[in-house]
Amino acid sequence: MKTVSRIKTVQMLLQSARKTGTIGFVPTMGAFHDGHLSLIQRARRECIYVAVSLFVNPLQFCDPEDYLTYPKDLPSDQRKAASAGVDLLWVPSVDEIYPPGHCTFIEVGEIGNRWEGAARPGHFKGVATVVAKLFKIVQPHRVYLGRKDYQQVRVIQQMVRDLHFNIALRVLPTVREKDGLAMSSRNVRFADDDRKAAPILYKALCHAKRLVSEGEDDCRRIVRQAQSLIRSESRATIDYITMCNPVTLEPIERLTGKAVLLLAVKIGNVRLIDNVELILPRGKKRRIGGKEGHQIIDVEGNED
Ligand code: PAJ
Repeated sequence: MKTVSRIKTVQMLLQSARKTGTIGFVPTMGAFHDGHLSLIQRARRECIYVAVSLFVNPLQFCDPEDYLTYPKDLPSDQRKAASAGVDLLWVPSVDEIYPPGHCTFIEVGEIGNRWEGAARPGHFKGVATVVAKLFKIVQPHRVYLGRKDYQQVRVIQQMVRDLHFNIALRVLPTVREKDGLAMSSRNVRFADDDRKAAPILYKALCHAKRLVSEGEDDCRRIVRQAQSLIRSESRATIDYITMCNPVTLEPIERLTGKAVLLLAVKIGNVRLIDNVELILPRGKKRRIGGKEGHQIIDVEGNED
């Protein structure tokens, strides 16, 4: 594995790699955990050449303290990347990505403004801008992303489409700790008691999934139940819990096919995001009306 910093070197190495076959690319901010490694391993299986970027992107942080204290461990990341079979680990400098006088940015409209975008103004502008630069420099055939950052995936999909990037995006499942907590580089910041409280998010997601599998299609009811489960944990403060259209991320009231439940919750000082895709099983009876059992219709809308 080569670790390089300069854009010119990356381009030179990739130019010769491109002749040999498919280039897989995994953009990251480092502090690797098994979530990152799952993306790298999939890229390794599917591509001739695997490039990984490690860049803590100042533009996507709203809180300077969060940026300055973002976990960093390059030697450990190098070891993990090398043993996962990475060919090229690219660790650019802030100056080269954003040279003095840099003033071009990418925004993706409403998809980037709601939920995380509203909670962290400018966040997705920072993500879209850096990812466009990374794509432009690496010119990969395939890019591997984690579903853990659901809205980020939607922002990048939209950008790839709108800017005509000729790239196939692969979106892989969230890798979790044994107790259900989604792996995240920021999890190292947990105080012990807060860490013990964190799996409440996964419990709420599982509960929502179970409700939907039983035919519940009233999004407000699903959200309310998820909220009360999370509130039962005194260390948790909900930022948002919402059920939305999986493509537009607009909130929905009734589940008709597929939806995504997105949530952001603070446990102690650590802010967590997580999500679950919810699909109403075909043929399940659903209840409509305010109270249980008022009127029964099936998902195709035929009344009993
Ligand atoms: P980072 O948080 O380092 O994540 C890099 C990639 O790993 C993203 O695609 C993310 O969704 C994925 N990932 C993180 N945790 C995961 C988990 N538990 N399971 C599966 N995949 C997981 O996301 C970023 O960096 C940045 O915003 C970036 C896209 C690199 C732009 O700066």
